[in-house]
Amino acid sequence: MKLKTIITSILCLIAAASCNDRKSDLPVQGTIDENGLYTATFTASRNYLLIPSYYKRGTNKLDIQVNGTSIFEAIPVMTVAKDKVDYFVPIEIASYKGKTVSISITGVDPASLILSQARQSDCIGFDREEFYRPQYHFSPEFGWNNDPNGLFYDNGVWHLGYQYNPYSVMWDNMSWGHATSTDLVHWENHPVIIRPDALGNAYSGSAVIDKNNTAGFGENAIVALYTSAGEQGQQQSVAYSLDGGYTYTKYEGNPVISSTPEMMTQRDPKVQWIDDKWVMAISFDKYVRFYGSQNLLDWEFLSSICANDFGLPDWGTWECPDLLKFDYNGETKWVVTINADQTGPNGVRTTLYFIGQWTGREFIADPLPYPLLLDYGVDQYAGVTYGNTGDRHVQLAWLTSSPWPGSETPATKYFTGGMALPHDIFLKDGGEHLILASVPAKEIYEARQPAKELGLREAGTLEAMLDNNSGSYQIELTFVPKSDENFGFKLSNSKGETVSYTFDQSNGEILTDRSKCGLQDAFPKSAHCPVVAKLIKRDAYKVELFIDRMSSEMFVNDGDCVMTNCLFPTEYLNTLEVFGDVELISSRIFEF
Ligand code: FRU
Repeated sequence: MKLKTIITSILCLIAAASCNDRKSDLPVQGTIDENGLYTATFTASRNYLLIPSYYKRGTNKLDIQVNGTSIFEAIPVMTVAKDKVDYFVPIEIASYKGKTVSISITGVDPASLILSQARQSDCIGFDREEFYRPQYHFSPEFGWNNDPNGLFYDNGVWHLGYQYNPYSVMWDNMSWGHATSTDLVHWENHPVIIRPDALGNAYSGSAVIDKNNTAGFGENAIVALYTSAGEQGQQQSVAYSLDGGYTYTKYEGNPVISSTPEMMTQRDPKVQWIDDKWVMAISFDKYVRFYGSQNLLDWEFLSSICANDFGLPDWGTWECPDLLKFDYNGETKWVVTINADQTGPNGVRTTLYFIGQWTGREFIADPLPYPLLLDYGVDQYAGVTYGNTGDRHVQLAWLTSSPWPGSETPATKYFTGGMALPHDIFLKDGGEHLILASVPAKEIYEARQPAKELGLREAGTLEAMLDNNSGSYQIELTFVPKSDENFGFKLSNSKGETVSYTFDQSNGEILTDRSKCGLQDAFPKSAHCPVVAKLIKRDAYKVELFIDRMSSEMFVNDGDCVMTNCLFPTEYLNTLEVFGDVELISSRIFEF
């Protein structure tokens, strides 16, 4: 084990131990009046206020006042426990110690368990190490996350903002959470950077380093552009950071792009400097629009593209767009990526891309057989790239996971979501045409432990791949098919739960079948089963499979194919079976 891993494990144990010690918890005495208004007043003396809650989208409005002033710019909603407690919402009150804190929550059942269970505590009230907690991917400590936001790289540090609900494990109260990493594998959590305000929730967006102070906030200010989603529709706002991205101040002239009656759903601005101006790609219903600016504050509309332009059907709103410049064998190429929010080719939300040219005002696509999918899996979405990485494109996407709306048995308890592995993306010859290839970011390889040889040479079964299996590892298999038959491999556990990966050479498909792999209620009902990807025919197939408790990310032949899917086996998968008429050039396993 690396020293860093040992230290992290010891710190986790200490944190977990102190969190089991509930003796110093202080009950919060409150009352519920005849209108269902819960109120309580106390002197803050612990780190957290713990409010009992359960799995249901929030409707109770929460206000917290400190010495008579609300701590919120916009009142959040949450779900207060009635007769069962699924989890406790931890609200940080450490900075108010010694002060008078008053809570009020609307619409509370008169017999609610909040009366007996609300308390102050020095710990967050749960064990971070739950069964499906990813070990080498980002996941929020508590709460819900969706899209990555405001991604930028600065002096060895990868900043990750993300759509975050701090008050529930379901979507709501959209704020920007914040974490940083120096290796794209271990993430450190930081306080929320952008919160909802009078203009609405803080939806997705991006951040740039304003090296030449074009906006006037200061040289090297980090400037975030995000969507304020409120009663006046979706408008674009600016916040800036003068401490390298750890705290932000909202621009007083917000919004910088206002909504109009025809333009109520414009969102997810992705901004970068191209040649002579800032260029914004932004979602507008079924379009992506482009705007230009000299100062990040005044924006001019340039052009737009939509599904119709590519002969594609209506797959809902085109969310979280990105515009990327690549060098392909000395030729400049541009790529637009978009996220179609409804049933795409794989039955669920999907990331599509278009390859072409950027003229400075508009994107002209090459004639290619669209739709082209960046990832054939069904559990990644809203991916965008990091800013300030030079010619390298590092893309990060939301790992969408349980619980889905209507899911009775959410697989994860204190958090929902996470991020997929960061990918290096580049253009590659895909046989028939250019493709946008995705491979694990190079830092992932650097963070791995040395390989262990599995020693399989042909189809066969390996009963236990790891002695101390914690559900997180990477398998690398290189196959040479000896005939045109189907081949592939399966992972299973002692309960017989199995996920299979089949290379169907005659139909040119790769299939992931997770229908017998543990909890099923967690999966989106509309996702195709098995999940199907295009197989680009080669003589040999190098498969890199990353399993991290609840996720399966398969990369084939350095970017030919990527499939990101969630899995919820009820015991960690540990047995490998290879099938088909194949020779195995190598079979290895890595831990992190
Ligand atoms: C994509 C998305 C974005 C929006 C955000 C809201 O998942 O719908 O378009 O900004 O999530 O959380």
